[in-house]
Amino acid sequence: MTPKTALDLTGLKLERPQVWVTAYDFFQAQLAEEAQLDAILVGDSLGMTMLGYDSTLSVTMEDMLYHARVVRRGAPHTVMIVDLPFLSYRTVELALTNAGRLLQEAQADGVKIEGGHRLAETVASLVAEGIPVIGHLGLTPQSVHTMGGYRVQARSREHIEQLLDDAESLAQAGISALVLEGIPDKVGALVTERIQVPTIGIGAGHATDGQVLVFHDCLGLSAYTPKFVAPFAQGRQVLAEGLKAYRSAVLDRTFPDDDHSYHMAHKEWERFIAGEATQ
Ligand code: KIV
Repeated sequence: MTPKTALDLTGLKLERPQVWVTAYDFFQAQLAEEAQLDAILVGDSLGMTMLGYDSTLSVTMEDMLYHARVVRRGAPHTVMIVDLPFLSYRTVELALTNAGRLLQEAQADGVKIEGGHRLAETVASLVAEGIPVIGHLGLTPQSVHTMGGYRVQARSREHIEQLLDDAESLAQAGISALVLEGIPDKVGALVTERIQVPTIGIGAGHATDGQVLVFHDCLGLSAYTPKFVAPFAQGRQVLAEGLKAYRSAVLDRTFPDDDHSYHMAHKEWERFIAGEATQ
């Protein structure tokens, strides 16, 4: 079954693993749709991958709306989940306004928010208004400062219990799926067993109900490869070699050759030269 809505993603839990990727522009969205991936996440990781920031904290609602609209044009038939950026859902009212904009102005199919139990009321209110919500637990990049950096989470008994409570609370509040980032594989498996909604892992082991990767990591475009990523293409190397080959070909005048140049009727050229000569 190809998912058409966030609800279809929930239904996949009992069927098969689901495959998500982030995308931030038209070209990436087209590739994701052509590859028949189950969902595209317009992640606030665009702050790093597209805008050159060193965290997601500077990303604004306007950034998310801009990229989400572009992605929607590139992938009109793929479920598109969009991140609510840092501080844009700190009250229920703000969450409703901002999530509503993503659905109305960018045709998002749902939104993703980072955090546990404290967001249960927000999730329930969004869902009650018809806005599907994806949760995000474990390593939550918007809390980089209070986590003390980008560290693997839920490695102690207390933290595992906290994560399970948060996951259950979000599931009860009505999330359609739960992203689990940067946690031990055993903990990923445990949460997946415990809750009815699908878990989508990123650095959470192989037992989650699906996987999501940042586009640039997935295709080997990033300068740095995190431990949990096995790139599925050597994109950066292929592109860099292409640009170097282009440079050499222009410098040694082998590009453009005859096959890649436009031509004209010889007679017409002769006529032009003759005209030039009489002037
Ligand atoms: O912003 C993002 O790309 C994400 C993924 C890491 C899940 O939230």
